[in-house]
Amino acid sequence: MSNQTIPLFTVGAGVYNDFKDNDLTDLVNYTKQVQYLENVSNLKSANYQIFEEQGFSFLKEYCTKAVNHYASDVLGWKVKLEIVTSWSNVTLKSASHHVHNHKNSILSGVFYLSDNNSALRFYNPFEIYEAFDLNNYDNLDYHSFNSKFWDITPLKNTLIVFPSWLDHGVVEQENDSERISLAFNTFLAKGQQLGRPYAFTGLWI
Ligand SMILES: [Fe+2]
Repeated sequence: MSNQTIPLFTVGAGVYNDFKDNDLTDLVNYTKQVQYLENVSNLKSANYQIFEEQGFSFLKEYCTKAVNHYASDVLGWKVKLEIVTSWSNVTLKSASHHVHNHKNSILSGVFYLSDNNSALRFYNPFEIYEAFDLNNYDNLDYHSFNSKFWDITPLKNTLIVFPSWLDHGVVEQENDSERISLAFNTFLAKGQQLGRPYAFTGLWI
């Protein structure tokens, strides 16, 4: 039987792995000496403006370019986004990161400073997959139309961009080495006008 299946409503995770500067030693060292707070199972920096620290500007620039690429090329949005908060996460062996999403943000991203990272797991937002358990997942041809979650195992220097509302977490870090990442949130850059004033959707940032 021949058919065409059209993916009606999809959520994309943008994987950017063209970061050119491989010497991130100073940034890694910074993440090792900054103060951390407990975050259920792993650690997050107390500094929520880490991209404003000395030496981070080139990475902030790369991440800003990537989220705006995602906004324009993937979503087709004619807006400009800027990074509003940024922090580091450290996940030690046997630790994980609980399921969560990022409020008060439009797109979020995670850049990886370490090798041997456990997977970043995204959860299917369609509740129908939670309402029924029709399949034996051991025998299922697992793909984006039927998955309850989707794992992306990031390499060092990889940036992953995703909609901030999408639930995600980190599976257990089985490797001996620390899993170190830099995460950030974005919002509309100042000076923009959105929506239609006469439809009462006008918004001036
Ligand atoms: Fe997150």
